[in-house]
Amino acid sequence: MMNKTVVVIGSQWGDEGKGKITNFLSEQADFVVRYQGGDNAGHTIKFDGVTYKLHLIPSGVFNPNIKNILGNGMVINPIHALQEIQALKKQGFPCNNLYISDRANVIMNYHMEIDALKEETMGEGKIGTTKKGIGPAYTDKTAREGIRIVDLVSSNFPALYQEKLKAKNELITRMGGKPIDYEASLATYLEVAKQITPYVTDTVTLLNKGIKEGKKVVFEGAQGALLDVDFGSYPFVTSSNPTSGGACTGSGVGPTKIDEIIGVVKAYSTRVGSGVFPTEFEDEISKDIRERAHEYGTTTKRPRRIGWLDCVVLKYSAMINGLTGISLMLLDILSGLDTIKLCCAYKVDGEYIDYIPADNGLLARCQPVYLEMEGWQEDITNVKSFKELPINAQRYIEKIEELIDVKVKIFSVGPDKLQTIVRENIF
Ligand code: GDP
Ligand code: IMO
Ligand code: MG
Repeated sequence: MMNKTVVVIGSQWGDEGKGKITNFLSEQADFVVRYQGGDNAGHTIKFDGVTYKLHLIPSGVFNPNIKNILGNGMVINPIHALQEIQALKKQGFPCNNLYISDRANVIMNYHMEIDALKEETMGEGKIGTTKKGIGPAYTDKTAREGIRIVDLVSSNFPALYQEKLKAKNELITRMGGKPIDYEASLATYLEVAKQITPYVTDTVTLLNKGIKEGKKVVFEGAQGALLDVDFGSYPFVTSSNPTSGGACTGSGVGPTKIDEIIGVVKAYSTRVGSGVFPTEFEDEISKDIRERAHEYGTTTKRPRRIGWLDCVVLKYSAMINGLTGISLMLLDILSGLDTIKLCCAYKVDGEYIDYIPADNGLLARCQPVYLEMEGWQEDITNVKSFKELPINAQRYIEKIEELIDVKVKIFSVGPDKLQTIVRENIF
């Protein structure tokens, strides 16, 4: 089948390697589209010996022939967007291939302030957000009180900002924070608006026109299925829909136009921030994994929590996303283990279940039921095909396919773009 549009989504709790695979697939595409989230994301891409970290900018930015869209479903901090653009320009990427949706909501200074204050007051019960203002910005969007990019670049912005800031400053003061100065911050926003204007456009029309002309599109998910506001362990989630449905609402492309949905899966599990994590473990092995894979947040630098691969999570993720394929990442990190554990069910209150309950109390009582598989000792970072993998690595991949009933179409054995093996072509 000749695919035209592919959604790349995180199948776990984020940081699965979405940036790497999006960038890899983008070489065959015409558009890369971010459809939700904001600069809470941290996507790592490595090629030609250099590592790049992107937060807001789509992972196809390095190729001038690819149109990179920041979609309407995103929440965009324009100050941070410009900083990221400046940094990329310094590294030799002109960023003339960026298109920012006029419909996207803006993350304002007060959103970041409120996010941080809220987390502080929640103490032990905090969500462990990235403090980028994501939750407060999506709250305003849903409450129909947000500022959109189209407003930011309009002449009405000063009055609109003054009105919003007045109310937010009252809230900030009540929460124990320091009110934001209107005049000083307005000057910054007016400058930012001027600089961002050339990138702002009706991306919905641009993208749909491209699709009509037969152009190829990669939708780049941020976060992951278990951080989805509807499907994750609420309230320990982000405030958007990283799952595949979000690709439609967050870009203005209808579901009938989506051809393939690739779930990016880390060969084990990680999570940053609070919330239930059934297969989490902390011992010498997890410490070793953390150091070898450098499992520290791309955005917040926090150490990531480590767990075994959870196939209950993956089955759930395959279901809610409608996965048509998997890209299995960081397989190289499992080299050198005698035994690798795979969670295939949960045991809770004396019963076995293989789904994710909505009740966090119930989920917290779930004990993972493990299948133990023999590991492999070989370094696999130079492997170029499935057949070259040690037999136990092949068995690990096949077991995942069997348990989840989705084919592993791509696997990855290192951070570099070249360390990617395609078993079945996506485009
Ligand atoms: P994203 O948020 O899903 O894009 O993922 P992150 O960039 O936050 O985290 C993934 C990390 O794993 C990054 O440091 C990548 O460079 C790295 N990475 C991706 N694929 C592989 C792989 O196959 N092997 C190894 N060792 N590292 C990888
Ligand atoms: P990428 O795209 C991993 C987590 C935070 C926190 C929760 C809510 O790089 O995979 P938020 O700031 O969104 O309100 O925080 O979600 N989180 C991520 N974890 N990867 C991410 O993005 C994340 N973005 C947010 O740690 O638990
Ligand atoms: Mg990340």
